[in-house]
Amino acid sequence: MFRVKKTKIPTVILKDFQKFASGYTKVHKEPDGPCVKTEIPGPKSKALFKELSDIQRALVNRPALGVFPGIDWPQKLRDVLLSVAPKGCNQVMTMMCGACSVESAFKAAFIWYCTNKRGGKTTFSDEELKSVMDNKAPGAPKLAIMSFKAPLLQGAFHGRTFGALATTRSKPIHKLDFPSFDWPCAIFPHYKYPLEEHKRENEEQDKKSLAHVCELFEKWEKKGIPVAGVIVEPIQSEGGDNHASPEFFQQLQAICASKCAALILDEVQTGCGPTGKMWCHEHFNLPSPPDLVTFSKKMLTGGYYARPEFKPPQAYRIFNTWMGDPSKLILLEQVLKVIKTEKLLDLVQCTGKVLKCGLHELECEFPDKINSVRGRGTFLAFDATSPEMRDKIMGNLKKNGVLGGVCGTTSVRLRPALTFAPKHAEIFLDILKKSLQQIK
Ligand SMILES: Cc1ncc(COP(=O)(O)O)c(C=O)c1O
Repeated sequence: MFRVKKTKIPTVILKDFQKFASGYTKVHKEPDGPCVKTEIPGPKSKALFKELSDIQRALVNRPALGVFPGIDWPQKLRDVLLSVAPKGCNQVMTMMCGACSVESAFKAAFIWYCTNKRGGKTTFSDEELKSVMDNKAPGAPKLAIMSFKAPLLQGAFHGRTFGALATTRSKPIHKLDFPSFDWPCAIFPHYKYPLEEHKRENEEQDKKSLAHVCELFEKWEKKGIPVAGVIVEPIQSEGGDNHASPEFFQQLQAICASKCAALILDEVQTGCGPTGKMWCHEHFNLPSPPDLVTFSKKMLTGGYYARPEFKPPQAYRIFNTWMGDPSKLILLEQVLKVIKTEKLLDLVQCTGKVLKCGLHELECEFPDKINSVRGRGTFLAFDATSPEMRDKIMGNLKKNGVLGGVCGTTSVRLRPALTFAPKHAEIFLDILKKSLQQIK
């Protein structure tokens, strides 16, 4: 048996502390203690809760952004993130990174799908509550998210957390050794460039891919793992800057709607302006807004936008301690201001034309080294004729002062800042030309 000996603070220390504490309280204008003036929650909290609930499923009265948002948080969400929300998406959740934005978008899709299956009922059966604790159906239902691979090329990239990784189909090394879900993967269109010269073949690619999507919906339904959502990048980026046409995305949206599945557009890499529009999917003229749009990278904070029906019926279901970082919105507010006042989306389109035109000239001049120039805005890429050729190009670019990026197996991708102007494009093109000439 141990007896806890109560420590007595020596009087000298206590006196010192009291002296320090009274000075500290004065300097920091601390109240003497809590002072309850209204019932809890009071009218201010109730009003703020209501305001936040219009934008996202809110929960208050705990520390950290997810549960104890600052007084100005709803206004900040409105002024900053919702000011650039994709049309029709009036819900926004903030997250820390791209992968957890994707992960949370999947959860929103599953909650929406299951709530629909329950006929809108927002309560759970005893069996659901019990089975879910053993990771078993019906509480943990067998459901899938479909993603895309590219034939002969690398496919989708949606992040490296478990759910996101199950839909990532780029490099095996990302996925090796991790258990995963039995989720379907459709082939993404494999285009030839320039698009204008390969219209017919590329339309065939769209058809082939969409037929595969339909086939997989049915196959997984039969397996007893219905597809609740489809995730797709507007431009398959890490996988090699693989494009698909607006018609492809329009038809994909129609298929998802007909199967009562959510369409999730992953704009983590394409979002916030590099294609010349705030959101790349604005190029697609979708007949209705996408269900969920994930973002991160250039947006400084991660998160997703959603249509109103994707707000979970219960609080706390899409949640983590930090739920993003409010300071990022302060930075993003300024970034968006600069994008607007300096008309950076117009600049991206203008610079993009100069860059693309220059790249086309170079692919004509060096057909044995590069081809397949493609892209929107300054979100451009070209292919090297082999992985070895790409290594040589990248090596020379570096020696000549340009740090470049690669994607897929043979692609070189351009991802300049939004402030990249035609004069910068010309400097880059000169260096690229020199780098290509240096390869004998
Ligand atoms: C399209 C896409 N989705 C998701 C992610 C994952 O983002 P993060 O690295 O922030 O987890 C990436 C990262 O490159 C991406 O390009």
